[in-house]
Amino acid sequence: MDLTNEIIVCQNQVLDVSNLSVIRSGTQVIHDINLSVSCGEFIGIVGPNGGGKSTLLLTILGILKPNTGTIRIFDHEPMSKNVIGKIGWVPQTASNLSSNVQITVRELIQLGTLKSKSYFQIYRKKNRELVEKIIGIVGLEEVANTRLSTLSGGQRQRAAIGKALASEAEIIVMDEPMVGVDRDSRNSLLKLLDNLCHEENKTILMVSHDLSTIKQTVHRMVYLEETIRYDGSTSEFPDLSSLAKLRGITSTHNEYSSVKSKSDKDKKLDPITIVSGKGGV
Ligand SMILES: Nc1ncnc2c1ncn2[C@@H]1O[C@H](COP(=O)(O)OP(=O)(O)OP(=O)(O)O)[C@@H](O)[C@H]1O
Ligand SMILES: [Mg+2]
Repeated sequence: MDLTNEIIVCQNQVLDVSNLSVIRSGTQVIHDINLSVSCGEFIGIVGPNGGGKSTLLLTILGILKPNTGTIRIFDHEPMSKNVIGKIGWVPQTASNLSSNVQITVRELIQLGTLKSKSYFQIYRKKNRELVEKIIGIVGLEEVANTRLSTLSGGQRQRAAIGKALASEAEIIVMDEPMVGVDRDSRNSLLKLLDNLCHEENKTILMVSHDLSTIKQTVHRMVYLEETIRYDGSTSEFPDLSSLAKLRGITSTHNEYSSVKSKSDKDKKLDPITIVSGKGGV
C-alpha cells in the first residue's frame, strides 16, 4: 500500500508457515501446519472451538513460540525488527471498547503511526496526511473527532483497522472481528477489507465463526482443526456433511464412508485432508 507515496514493492510471498506445531500447557494443540500466503490475499480461517485458530494467529504474530517448524514473514522471523509494523493485529475487543476510553477516531488512528522510527514525527505533516488518508479509506470522515465509546461496534472496528493501517501494516490479522457488529455494518466492513486487498494490496488473515458470511467474502478458506484440513477456494469449500466427515463425525444413519472430494482423489491425499492448493480470487 502506498499511503506515504513511497514505492513499496509487493513481494509475492508475505507469509510462510512450514511444518508448524505448537504446544500449550504441555499439550500439542496444532501440528503439521503448512501455509503459504501471497500479497493481496484475503484468507478466512474457520474451524471448531478449540481447533487452534487463535493459537495459529498468536504464533504468526510471535506471541507464542513454535514447538517445531518455522514462520517467516517477509522472509524474517516474527517479532524481528524487520517485521515490526508490517503485521497488524485487530483485536476483537475493538468493538467492545470500554465507555471509559476517551479517545477520538483520529487520535486512535494517529496512535498507529507511533512506531519506533517515527516516534518523534507524530505531528509531522506527512503523518498528518497519512492519518487523514486512512480516515477516508476506513470511511470515518464524519466521525473523525467523535469519541470511540459513542460509536457503533462496526465503526470502532473500522477505527481499529485504521490504526493497523497507520502503522503501515502489510498483513492484517483479525480474530473474530465481526463479533458485536450488526449485519449491515458487517457487510460494509467486509467490503472495506476486500477493497484493502484489491486496491491497497494488503494481506488479510481473518478468523471467523460466521461461515456463510466469510465464505462469500474471502478469496481463500482454511479449515483448521489441530491441523489444516482444507485450504483452497471458497467455491470448493466442503458442505456441512463433508465438514462433519472431515472432523471424523459419522452419520448415525449411514455407514461411514471416507471422504473423497474431487481434489482429494486427484491428489491422493490423506482421506480426511483436502488441500486444493492456493485458492484463487
Ligand atoms: N493459554 C492457554 N494455555 C493452554 N492451552 C490453551 C490456552 N489457550 C488455548 N488453549 C488450548 O489450545 C487449544 C486451541 O485453542 P485456540 O484458542 O487456539 O482455539 P480456537 O480455534 O481459537 O477456538 P475458539 O473458536 O473457541 O476461539 C484448545 O484446546 C485450548 O483449550
Ligand atoms: Mg479463538
